[in-house]
Parts: sequence; C-alpha cells; structure tokens
Amino acid sequence: MGDATTTTGPAEAELAEAGLRLELDGAVATVTLNRPERRNAMTFATWRGLAAIGRSLPAGVRVVVLRGEGPSFSAGIDLGMFSGGGEGFADGADAEATDRFIAELQEGYTWLRRPDIVTVAAVQGHAIGAGFQLALACDIRVIADDTGFCMKEPALGLVPDLTGTKPLVEVVGIGRALELCLTARTVRADEAARIGLAETVVPRDALDGAVRDLVEALLAVNPGATVATKRLLWQAAENTLDEQSAAERREQIGRLREMFGK
Ligand code: CAA
Repeated sequence: MGDATTTTGPAEAELAEAGLRLELDGAVATVTLNRPERRNAMTFATWRGLAAIGRSLPAGVRVVVLRGEGPSFSAGIDLGMFSGGGEGFADGADAEATDRFIAELQEGYTWLRRPDIVTVAAVQGHAIGAGFQLALACDIRVIADDTGFCMKEPALGLVPDLTGTKPLVEVVGIGRALELCLTARTVRADEAARIGLAETVVPRDALDGAVRDLVEALLAVNPGATVATKRLLWQAAENTLDEQSAAERREQIGRLREMFGK
C-alpha cells in the first residue's frame, strides 16, 4: 500500500521465516501472510510472529490490514506439523504447560481487538481453520467473491482454539455456529455476507481497491473518536443497557474534554 517502509519491530528475515511480511505506511500497517506456495498455511512461528508484530506496532498506526498473498487467504495450520509425530506440539499431558503454550499462540490473534487500531481482514480464496479464525479476529472483513470460510478443526479431531469461537457465535448465533463447525462445511461468499461473516463482498480483482477505499474512509474519521467508539462498541454485547449507557457517557466526557480543551 503506497511507499512502504520496514518496521523497527521483529526483523524482516525473522518474519519472512514465519511466512509473514509487514509494511508500514504512515498510519497503516499491512500484514501479509506470505507463503502462497503453501496457500499461506501457518506454523507456530507465524502465530508468534503475529504476536510480535502486535507488540511492536508503532504508536501512530491506526489501521491494520491483514491479507494473504496468492490465491488463498490461508489454508489454516500447516498440516506438515502433524506429520512429525506431533513434534513441537504441547500434547496435553501437562495441562498447565499446554494451556500456556496455546495462550502464547492465541496472542497472535487477540491484539487485533485492541481499541487503538481498527483491523481489516482482506480475504480471498480459502480461509480454513486457523485462517478463518484470523479473519474472525479482525474488526471488519472485506472478502472477494471466491472466498470460502471453513472451520475444519472438529473434522480433524480438534476444537477451534485460536480465539475464533466467540466472534463466530456473536456474529452468526449459536445454532449456525454449531452447524458450521460440526459439519466443517464451506461457507461461500454470498452466504458469508448474508449471515454477517463479511461486511463487503467484491469481485476478486476489486479486493485491493475496496480495502484501500475502506482504509481511506477509516482514516478520515477523528482518531480519538475512533478509539473511543471501538472501545464502546466492543463492550456493548456484554453490558446491560444501564452499563452501556454509562459507558457512553464516560466516553463522551472524554471526547468533550478533548474537543473543548478542558
Ligand atoms: N498445510 C500445509 N501445506 C498446505 C496446506 C496446509 N494447510 N494447504 C495447502 N498446502 C499445500 C499443498 O500441499 C500444496 O503443496 P504441493 O504444491 O507441494 O502439492 C500447495 O499448498 C497447494 O495446495 P493445493 O494444490 O491443494 O491447492 P488448491 O488451491 O487446489 O487447494 C486447499 C487449496 C483447499 C486449501 C487445499 O490445499 C487444502 O484442503 N488444504 C488443507 C486445509 C486444511 O485442512 N487445513 C487445516 C485446517 S484446521 C486448522 O487450521 C487449525 C487447527 O488447529 C487444526
């Protein structure tokens, strides 16, 4: 996106090793899943790399775009990792160690909800398992008309554990979430838009332009109001009406103070 400069966070070579590329262009960070020859399959290094990007994001970044190079957004976990007899996996025998292991990987996803940034998933082709969950971790999903979302984990004997179950249920409801996960069927773009999994569907060759337009619109809005509004909207589902009304008042006081310099 525009003239990109490299980050001062994780080294470029380290990110490349993890199948990632990071470009910083003013207030916009673009994170690219960059193993197209493997359909952007992700390893533990990918998730640790995403967490490192989140930790080291420069303060001026307001929008983060997550995209995939090549025909697919991401084919999910790198299945090659299963063939080494589970080497590198926490195997569950030590529950506490396994809990810590998964929590560390989840950090690659959780930072995308931070209120100081708006995150946009630009999705095309396959978004399977961990890839689907990555799209779900973002605030807004813009997808190409060739997109297929699939929560494959139960079909492989596992559960989705990269923070995707909460947004999935919140977006599509418990019945649809169960049906999608327990059949591991693929949701095509038109259905995805209908059930709320995508905010926008565009022809494949219009995806980059649609994301650019969205980013431009997001950046045109007052930065402080953006942060406060994201914080507010993300707590709405859990709050009672009274709690949410109080939260609106608190945020508005902050906005008014900033606007009138008090
Ligand atoms: N891991 C490792 N390699 C993968 C991969 C994956 N998840 N997905 C694709 N690849 C590789 C293929 O093996 C192939 O390699 P070669 O060229 O060496 O043969 C290359 O990428 C291209 O793949 P395809 O030729 O299959 O490309 P396609 O466009 O015809 O199909 C696809 C794409 C539908 C994604 C298909 O590759 C596929 O079904 N991949 C597996 C998807 C999957 O089951 N992912 C795991 C989901 S579960 C999860 O993510 C979370 C968890 O915790 C378990």
